[in-house]
Amino acid sequence: MTRGDEPDRGQSQTGRETVEPPDWFVEQANVTDPAVYDRFEREWPDCWREAAELLDWETPFKTVLRGTDGPPFEWFPGGRLNAAYNCIDRHLPERKNQLALVWEGHLGESRTYTYLELYREVNAFAAALRDHGVSPDDVVTLYLPMVPELPVAMLACARLGVPHNVVFAGFSADALATRMERAESKYLITCDGYYRRGSAVAQKNKADNARIAVDHDVSVVVLDRLGRDVHLGEDYDDYHDLLSAHEGAEVEPVSRAADDPLFRIYTSGTTGQPKAVTHTTGGYLAHVAWTARSVLDIKPEDTYWCSADIGWITGHSYIVYGPLALGTTTVLYNGTADHPKKDQLWELIEKYAVDVFYTAPTAVRAFMKWGAEYPNKHDLSSLRLLGTVGEPMDASAWEWYREHIGGGECPIVDTWWQTETGAVLVSTLPGVDEMKPGAAGTPLPGIEASVVDRSGAAAEPNSAGELVVTRPWPGMPRALLDGTDWGSVPESAEQWRYYPEDSVSVDDDGYITFLGRIDDAINVAGRRFSTKELESTVAGVTGVAEAAVVGADDETTGTAVYAFASPEDGYTESELRAAIEDAIVNAIGGIARPKKIVFTPDLPKTRSGKVMRRLLTAVANDEELGDTSALRNPEILGEIQSTTRRK
Ligand code: WTA
Repeated sequence: MTRGDEPDRGQSQTGRETVEPPDWFVEQANVTDPAVYDRFEREWPDCWREAAELLDWETPFKTVLRGTDGPPFEWFPGGRLNAAYNCIDRHLPERKNQLALVWEGHLGESRTYTYLELYREVNAFAAALRDHGVSPDDVVTLYLPMVPELPVAMLACARLGVPHNVVFAGFSADALATRMERAESKYLITCDGYYRRGSAVAQKNKADNARIAVDHDVSVVVLDRLGRDVHLGEDYDDYHDLLSAHEGAEVEPVSRAADDPLFRIYTSGTTGQPKAVTHTTGGYLAHVAWTARSVLDIKPEDTYWCSADIGWITGHSYIVYGPLALGTTTVLYNGTADHPKKDQLWELIEKYAVDVFYTAPTAVRAFMKWGAEYPNKHDLSSLRLLGTVGEPMDASAWEWYREHIGGGECPIVDTWWQTETGAVLVSTLPGVDEMKPGAAGTPLPGIEASVVDRSGAAAEPNSAGELVVTRPWPGMPRALLDGTDWGSVPESAEQWRYYPEDSVSVDDDGYITFLGRIDDAINVAGRRFSTKELESTVAGVTGVAEAAVVGADDETTGTAVYAFASPEDGYTESELRAAIEDAIVNAIGGIARPKKIVFTPDLPKTRSGKVMRRLLTAVANDEELGDTSALRNPEILGEIQSTTRRK
């Protein structure tokens, strides 16, 4: 079949439509041999040598996995390497003049870095950090929007063997302070401000407030992004001054053990506090490089674009480390999909002839709503593969994405993974497997996972259960390697388990459909928030007696935040509404702003006083409430329902 022919479609055993990858794609794909699954199974854990061999090791590892009998696990023990060397230096002989980064900023502003230019800037900045006294015992916090200086700073840290701690630029001063405090991070790199939807937003004042809130001293580097005169004051350094002072400097990449930390990132955990996830240098980099190659089918000569923000794990793994480890050109976009026009993304795909595009289902649902006229205006024929991550992708969004962005013929990979897993664990291999719109795929080669019911027994095909990962994987984080945390069972290899807390169903062919979180995380537009963290923020507002927060279905963002609050006497709803919004913006950031705040004299409670969130979710979704006999105050529900509908 050549490009342009109708794809082969069929029915799987279970009735769900299947779509074959087209021949033209398979002919050029990085991985095309279906035997890869059996081979990885037969040779596990040695199969993962193939991933490690995508990297250059300064000292070869002795074995692939230590700890096959159970944790502590160690991937590639004895091996030493440097991540920045792997993402930059080793590509220089072959492609120093090839683009490494392509950046699109505010209103047509753009900048590119060849691998050689990236090498120079990373070295200069690494030299500046070293002269500041930054050492591998430190953690450097990066609080930057999507500007090239963010990957430059990440790679400068990696070059020095210093873990970075990227905090999403949209997070509040409080959220930044908590993350710096917990990481004991004494270095902060930020900017004066940046552009969002055409207007300048301030960043440095949030950084200043965080610096005051943190107990220890913090030294700050500020990148001038807005081109205005910012008074930096004492203990501030200017990014560009540092670069020019170190121009031409070269810093030896610092050799790191495979399991030394590469970075730390915080995500929403099951407690009210952000959860620190530390990823390793060797195992993580091998896993992201292998999946970038096998799942995203990235080639060095590609122009590849992942539209996530580097502030989240997706950007770490699949904007920075994976693509650069493979020596490709990675696109960075500091903008939104609909500003100033609704065809921003399509214009960029055409402009740069992007080969592989990776985004979130939320974005696809928004594109659908805006209509096909926007992509139709552009030549998107450079695209070869599309990907999604972050949330379940329903079949209709899948079809639309394929039809209108993929020209009816690009394969789509629906990739499942988490901050904790570091890299993709469940997906199809686009050059091997048939696709099923709506289902992500099977566990990748070398990954063992199954679906269990509540009792822990294997779930029946096509009924809902919980995903459990039953073997370690190279991209696993420190806490799981140590076997100390996060629901892993440490006794033996057979018993070791990792529960990602995702609800799923699996079909007769082993394809997994993701249904949502089973813990109290809310996934808004592919971003994870903790219900507890939101709830304690709302409950902490003066005048709020009690609060509950739930996630409810939303056409665009997948899930939206609904806050239910009961006011104390003497407070008006309008003042409380403003105070609750402010509290959330201050504690987390505008991205977690509730879609609805509903005031009610009481929350639905069981006789023992437990708030029944299930009922509040049903109210928010305007669904049947089902059995309410366990409630002490069932009469309150009618009132909450009518207030929720009204607002
Ligand atoms: C959800 C983002 C369905 C899931 C990389 C997971 C998905 C959480 C998918 C992790 C997918 C991620 N289909 N759901 N393809 N990918 N998720 O840590 O609930 O921000 O547990 O990592 O997003 O979110 P996190």
